[in-house]
Amino acid sequence: MQDYKTFLAEILVTKEQLQKRIKELGQEISRDYRGEEVLLICILRGGVLFLTDLIREIDLPLAVDFMAVSSYGSGARESSGYVRITLDLNTSLAGKNVILVEDIVDSGHTINSVLEMLETRDPKSLVVCTLLDKAERREKKVPIKYTGFTIPNKFVFGYGLDIDEYYRNLPFIGVVDLEKYRPEE
Ligand code: IMP
Ligand code: MG
Repeated sequence: MQDYKTFLAEILVTKEQLQKRIKELGQEISRDYRGEEVLLICILRGGVLFLTDLIREIDLPLAVDFMAVSSYGSGARESSGYVRITLDLNTSLAGKNVILVEDIVDSGHTINSVLEMLETRDPKSLVVCTLLDKAERREKKVPIKYTGFTIPNKFVFGYGLDIDEYYRNLPFIGVVDLEKYRPEE
């Protein structure tokens, strides 16, 4: 695995900025749902770090569940809009306040398909909370209730986001210099 320092163009969001903003989001969610319970759904795998930090900042009775989807894209860094559930939830959504937690909304295809599927399960409410919003790239309108950071159209990694499955463990969000990154054979 290539050392990330050899292709890191810049650190876009530092560890401190992430933790500060996630604390604010947790407080906002706690205020908005006061007196209620929430179910946070994390789409594997990119949203895991965000979810686990976010729930520690939420002062409400809550449950978590996980799902995984695969999108048939034109390449590893594009998504097409066709999404298939590869791991389904264990929890019923009926009557629940559901918060869908995502690492990044890019074209919007993935989250839109997931929202359509979850709406059919009769939640009491259903909103999206994304750490990153690559707004310029949006092809499909997405109703996002909570956004951590709106970022430019650059390929990012770290804090849950991968490049070819690696680098998720880095505590910051970095920008890849695609000229310097060498995918393994
Ligand atoms: P969308 O369907 O185009 O909105 O794509 C969303 C998914 O693409 C995210 O959940 C990520 O897995 C992936 N993705 C999009 N942009 C990036 C990026 O800059 N770095 C890492 N993964 C990304
Ligand atoms: Mg993802």
